[in-house]
Amino acid sequence: MSVKGVTPIENTLEINWQGDQKSIYHNIWLRDNCHCSECYYPITKQRLLNSATIDINIKPKSVNVKEGKVEIVWDTDHSSTYDVDWLRIHSYNPRLIPLDKKLKDDDDVLKQKLWQVKDIKDDLPQVDYNKIMQSSDETDNEEAIKEWLLQIHKFGFSLINNVPISPTDTEKLCEKLNYIRPTHYGGFWDFTADLSKNDTAYTNFDISNHTDGTYWSNSPGLQLFHLLYHDGKGGTTSLVDSFKCAEILKAKYPESYEIFCKIPVPAHSAGEPKVCIQPDIPQPIFKLDHQGKLIQVRWNQSDRSTMDYWENPEDVIKFYKAIKNWVEIITSPENELWYQMKPGQCLIFDNWRIFHSRSEFTGQRRLCGAYFERDDFISRLKLLTLGREAVLDSI
Ligand SMILES: [Fe+2]
Ligand SMILES: [Zn+2]
Repeated sequence: MSVKGVTPIENTLEINWQGDQKSIYHNIWLRDNCHCSECYYPITKQRLLNSATIDINIKPKSVNVKEGKVEIVWDTDHSSTYDVDWLRIHSYNPRLIPLDKKLKDDDDVLKQKLWQVKDIKDDLPQVDYNKIMQSSDETDNEEAIKEWLLQIHKFGFSLINNVPISPTDTEKLCEKLNYIRPTHYGGFWDFTADLSKNDTAYTNFDISNHTDGTYWSNSPGLQLFHLLYHDGKGGTTSLVDSFKCAEILKAKYPESYEIFCKIPVPAHSAGEPKVCIQPDIPQPIFKLDHQGKLIQVRWNQSDRSTMDYWENPEDVIKFYKAIKNWVEIITSPENELWYQMKPGQCLIFDNWRIFHSRSEFTGQRRLCGAYFERDDFISRLKLLTLGREAVLDSI
């Protein structure tokens, strides 16, 4: 896109784009985002300038457009050069490119595919352990890792086949994906149903659909499981695409959807004698971004604390009705995919989107796995799929 004209107006600069569009930028904003070597460290993309030192009423002395750049000499004699593409990507008045599409082409590449059981049951997303372990983004051999990350992001889960039945190899697989998130359960965990940690996960009870870690301000982004051993019956896992279910709830019970976007839900983890973890700010079940797009579902009936803060007490009944409507949808056979974990096959899922559950079981069962941070995952996903240049252009 090229620039037709540039006009300073009071404390702003108006850029007229080829066609009818125009963007207005504040002078102080432009000055603050100067990318010259005095103001900006290009290697790390960090600001060197102290923004407090800029005069609020700073004005350009001259403005020139040439060869895809806008050059401004300020009344302080400092000169700044802006790439036209950069100005367009970051145009905020008006926003020309939707925030979630700031990265070139990412709308298609990174689009999530929401599913119901019929869409996915005959073709479960899966990859091969050996291909993953041989893949690396340091050599020219990153395809398998990239496909794996994309699969996890698109469908919300992935099965990894041919994993050696050992915790050590499972941990190596985790480290191949990203940093393991340490918690009060440890980093990489390996447990049997012996109540070694005081949480229902360490029992043989039936555990209904949920996400993990609603009691943390930042719930784990991903979780990986490997069932190493089971000599009894039961213990089946179900997977539910809660984003698809939220779409259904919104269409069928709009008031319940609104309530889930609004009411903060406190949660806790208090089984261990030395912890009582609670988020600083209780968060709603549906977390939306600034454009109203659903980005996280926090759902865990067991870990929900006493809800004794209600801005409007009449919301109490609406909230419990919403729970009924929601549970009807997330436990419907159309949405609940039953899957039997087995030694040699790992399951990884997006804990901000996919619910998991476990039916009651008998016998001895040994399970290992780990949590990962969402930001680490998204960082690697974007860099591998979109390329470093496109990602850095958008920051
Ligand atoms: Fe869980
Ligand atoms: Zn500068």
